[in-house]
Formats: sequence, structure tokens, C-alpha cells
Amino acid sequence: MANLGRGVTDLKLTPSDIPLAGDDLARFETSFEHTKEVWGELLEENGNRLQKGNLSLHWMNTEGSAWNKSRVKPSSRGLTLMDINRPDVYGTVPKIAPHRKFASRGSIRDQYLNRMPDVSDYTIMDRDEVWADNVETLYEEAVARQWKATTDVPWDEYEDIVKLPEDIRLASAQVATFLTEVEFVAADMPAKWLYHIPQDFLEVKMFMVTQMMDEARHQEVFRKRAIIGGGLLHASPGFEWALKVILEAPNHTMGSFMLNLLAEGMVLTIFRSGEMIAPTQLDKEIFRLTLQDEARHVSYGVMQVKNYLDKHPDRAAATEELHRFADIAEQVMLTTLTEPTVIEPLAVLLGGGIKYAETKGLDGVAKLWDMLISEYLQRCDRVGLDRHARCTLPRTAPWAA
Ligand SMILES: [Fe+2]
Ligand SMILES: [Fe+2]
Repeated sequence: MANLGRGVTDLKLTPSDIPLAGDDLARFETSFEHTKEVWGELLEENGNRLQKGNLSLHWMNTEGSAWNKSRVKPSSRGLTLMDINRPDVYGTVPKIAPHRKFASRGSIRDQYLNRMPDVSDYTIMDRDEVWADNVETLYEEAVARQWKATTDVPWDEYEDIVKLPEDIRLASAQVATFLTEVEFVAADMPAKWLYHIPQDFLEVKMFMVTQMMDEARHQEVFRKRAIIGGGLLHASPGFEWALKVILEAPNHTMGSFMLNLLAEGMVLTIFRSGEMIAPTQLDKEIFRLTLQDEARHVSYGVMQVKNYLDKHPDRAAATEELHRFADIAEQVMLTTLTEPTVIEPLAVLLGGGIKYAETKGLDGVAKLWDMLISEYLQRCDRVGLDRHARCTLPRTAPWAA
């Protein structure tokens, strides 16, 4: 015990005569040197106690907690987030996060606030920038419905792909290539905002992590599909501009609108047409599995943007701002819908071969286009953003107009 105590109390920052790796390390050193008064004091107190062999046991004092007052029970599905959130003390999500600490909502924390560090990266203090009323159920569903790209897809049927006519094989590989290019932005975008969200909105953070895991699996499954089917084909420069808008949206709600409601919504519509697009049973299974994940991401986006507008103190101004963002987002999105690497392989697959791509194939893509736009407008309606008059996306495909 004595050795441990001395070790803890003797703990020092890196001596300054060691060469620094760069400015960032210097800043880090200065900042923790600067706050040493607080953390050094805690270290000293605890070290001294341990050196004497004493216990604190203050953590056994339940005053100020809901200890034994708020017993929860599992429901028929097990012990869900909804079950543990039933008592107000645990389930009430504050409108404004009360602080920027790591401490859990519902724990005994107030008396320690002045000795805990502020996490300056926690900047989204308003719940309604990120909250959605279905976020707990979506998290539970996400965890329950995880699948494995390695074994849940019937890869042993891969010869069905290898035997496809060359044009169909190329088209399906190009669709898979295009999907590998887009899937990961749906993880990058929540990742960008996740660490700005304070701990009091933990359910949102947890849901975002499931979305990232889902997108990692989508990246995995489409990459595997492309490579086993012959190889990866062409990148789509037009689409990358749409991805850039998603990542650079000025706030989380706008990013969520562009990613979950517009882009993922369109991917969802395409996956739902998987039955017609997929040339093999193996491909149909991939679309079926990814579809259920995308449905959750879209559902979060719809409920989150709706909640943002419903709760906004100046709804008219918030709506107009979102319209202004959507004006750009839709136009940039059009770069995707016009990319040959996207439209043409779909036309080959829907037409049943290159021979019918310009006839039956483009007709099929035009129908898909109608569906993409009308379902997007329906989602906008659901959040209370009427884009019917203002939508900058053509309602019908250019060749069908
Ligand atoms: Fe995805
Ligand atoms: Fe997604």
C-alpha cells in the first residue's frame, strides 16, 4: 500500500527537458499543468488516504440519489432502455444539458461538479438539436438486429454471380462500388457530431454508435460483394460533392436532414427496389439485410428533424433556415442522380441487360426517380417542412420529362 501511495503522489508530468513532439503536445502539457491545482489536489488527497491505509466509503452514502426508491423491472423483451428510463430520475432528459462533465444522468454528481473537468468539445447543449422520441426503441432494435456480413450472406452461392452475363456482372459490381463510396459518410457524419453531444443525451450517443456499426457492415458487405463478383469498378466524382455537403452541414440537424432524410432515404428507396435490381438471390439477401438498418437511420432522421422544428422557439425562422439548407442540399444531391456510374448500371440491371438499358432500363430508372422524389417529399411533410413548391430536384427524370 505504501509503495502504491508513493507512486501516485509522485506522479509527474513529462519533464520539460524531453523534446516535444509538436505544438499539440506542448498545448496539452500546458493545459494539464494549468489545471493541476484541481486534479493534483484530488490525487494528493486520495494518495494520502491510501498511504494511511484508510477507506473513504463516501460512495456508500445514498443521500441525494434514487437508491432503492426507483426499482425497475424487466419487460417481456428483457430489460430495455425504456424500462430503466421509466423512473423520472433516470429517464428525464433535460432540455439543456446542465454541464459538460462525463458523469451519468441520475448519478450523485452535483456535489462534485466544481472538481470535475469541463469537456470543452461538448457543444450541443440543446437536446432538440439531436433528440428523437424514438431513439431508445431504435437503439434497442439496432442491437437486437445486428447481423454478420461474413456469414449471414449466402456467399457459398457466389458462383451465381460469376456466371452472370458480363454486362449484368459489371453493372452489379458498379452498384456495389458506388455503395462502398457512399456508405461510410453515414458513419463519418454521426462521428463528427457524437463527441460534441454531452452525456445527458446518452441515448442519442448510443444510437449514433449503432448507426456507425451498421455503416461499417454496409461498407463491408458491398466491398465483399464487389470483389467476389469480379472487382471494384469506378468512383463517382459527382456523388462525392453530395457527401461533402453531408459532412460540412452547418449544424447537426441540417446534417441529419441531408444524410438521414434525403440521402439515406434515397438509398432506402433503392434497397427497397432490391427485388428488381438484384440479379441473384445472394444480392437480394444483401439488400434485405441492409434495408432494415437503413430504415432505422431514416426513422431517426425524420423524428429528429421533426422534433427540432416542433420544439423550436421560433419555428418559422428555423423552418426557413432548413429550407435554405435544403435548396443547396437537393441541388448537390442531383449530382448523384445524374452520375453515369449510378444511373447506367441501374438501367442495365432494371432492363435486364445492356441491350435494353436505353429502353426498358431507363424506364425503370425513371420510375425509381419518381419514387425517390415523392418519398423524399413525403418525409419532408412528416417533419413539417413543406418542400412541394420549393423542391429543386426535378420531379421526373430528365429523359422522361
Ligand atoms: Fe448504410
Ligand atoms: Fe444508413
